[in-house]
Amino acid sequence: MAEVIQSKLVWAVYLLHLLLLIFIHGSTSDSISSEGFCAVHSGSDCGLPSPYTKILIKGGTVVNAHHKEVADVYIENGVILSVRPNIRIPDENIKIIDATRKYVMPGGIDPHTHLDMEFMGTATIDDFFTGHAAALAGGTTMHIDFVIPINGNLTAGFEAYKHKASKAAMDYGFHVAITKWDEDVSKDMEVMVRDHGINSFKFFMAYKGALMVNDDLLLEGLKKCKSLGALPMVHAENGDAVVEGQNRMIDLGITGPEGHALSRPPVLEAEATARAIRLAAFVNTPLYVVHVMSIDAMEEIAKAKKAGQRVVGEPVVSGLVLDDSWLWHPDFTTASKYVMSPPIRELGHGQALQAALSTGTLQLVGTDHCTFNSTQKAFGLDDFRKIPNGVNGLEERMHVLWDAMVETGKINIMDYVRITSTECARIFNIYPKKGAILEGSDADIIILNPNASFEVSATSHHSRSDTKVYEGRTGKGKVEVTISRGRVVWENDVLNVMPGSGKYIKMPPFSYLFDGIDKSDAAYLSSLRAPVKRANAAS
Ligand code: URP
Ligand code: ZN
Ligand code: ZN
Repeated sequence: MAEVIQSKLVWAVYLLHLLLLIFIHGSTSDSISSEGFCAVHSGSDCGLPSPYTKILIKGGTVVNAHHKEVADVYIENGVILSVRPNIRIPDENIKIIDATRKYVMPGGIDPHTHLDMEFMGTATIDDFFTGHAAALAGGTTMHIDFVIPINGNLTAGFEAYKHKASKAAMDYGFHVAITKWDEDVSKDMEVMVRDHGINSFKFFMAYKGALMVNDDLLLEGLKKCKSLGALPMVHAENGDAVVEGQNRMIDLGITGPEGHALSRPPVLEAEATARAIRLAAFVNTPLYVVHVMSIDAMEEIAKAKKAGQRVVGEPVVSGLVLDDSWLWHPDFTTASKYVMSPPIRELGHGQALQAALSTGTLQLVGTDHCTFNSTQKAFGLDDFRKIPNGVNGLEERMHVLWDAMVETGKINIMDYVRITSTECARIFNIYPKKGAILEGSDADIIILNPNASFEVSATSHHSRSDTKVYEGRTGKGKVEVTISRGRVVWENDVLNVMPGSGKYIKMPPFSYLFDGIDKSDAAYLSSLRAPVKRANAAS
């Protein structure tokens, strides 16, 4: 009798979801199903929520960042309830997934994306629904996007991004960019941390005349971040010198995409990386360097880490596996796809960045997913400075990294989990709710078959973009199942996502990176041996 009631209850919840879905489709996103972003290949059931609230994954190898074991995973209402061998639950309303000879891992967390961002006179083509559809199909179950302030105003920017994210289909968090400095910004940073779950702020050292900040602002920002326990992040390129480099190329008559790479060489990335690292050392605050693209910048991070400084280096997939030869491609549409900043570097940099990742010099991998279609890229047909900067990666990150680094033996499977998920959760202080397959963790899980293959193809991808930089890439390892908050959203190459189902994840301040900062501050003060008391000093 109890089972019948429970079964009826499950179906009641299911029908309620269905009604909600019809409402959401009708009210916010008429075009979603017609664009083919959900239930791809099935042609039906677009966004239909799974009736199961209970899932048992049987017989897979469960991989966490520090341990792997053959075990079952039992999920109820979006949370992992049990991880151990031979779980038996006598309940017919459980979905059972056989994961024998497959890896059961935490869903990917991408620390660096730009969905629905206004940038360089246009807006990125993937929004919080299409970006999430792409992410989930590729095994990423959470990302952290960047709130861009409106006229420098953080609250206005935050509200705008909250609205953009109302169609979210998976969990997400926000970093907030700082683009100007005054008392209001300083106070708003406090509000962001205290009331809105923000624990990181980003400073662009490039994009002069738009997002760029000077050293004065960066210093103020670093001090404020430290006082709030928030992590400062930098886009490290010398923006003044970039403008000089761009003018040099134009004067030489170099107006095509190759001019982009030539105008902002590694030395400008290294200079800004070193400068940000030294200023962070001066303030004694942790620092996060986004999209490390060159050996030169990576070596600055390595040097600082060796000296004991807390610097996190984030390479992105494009920088790890591509090289700049594409920018010299004779076809503009092809070449312009690869324009991003800092630029994708010459052959050799990617391999060195992979090595740095395998040894822990660089800690986690993002995508900087910032997609523009070929029409948008063509804004810069006659002048590379007008090509919107950015490449895709949200859908491809997990596959491309597995193939490039695990299949080649450069890292082991636990390291893979660490650099794609766990480290991000730790740095942004949401571990082990995210980034782990442990009892009590959110049920964001992927099942990867190491014996299957993937292929990146415009005909089957979920991003809105027509400018994929990994087009045609094939490799070993395929994410066969993605579970987002306890719902199977990707299985048998069918995507089943629901706009509005994603949740905003608040991230508390004072992550492990801040542990002991107070002690080193105290040690610094006691090392000063000052002020010196002098007999002849004015009293
Ligand atoms: O080219 C890039 N990276 N576009 C996105 C904005 C940024 O710099 O992160
Ligand atoms: Zn950047
Ligand atoms: Zn970015």
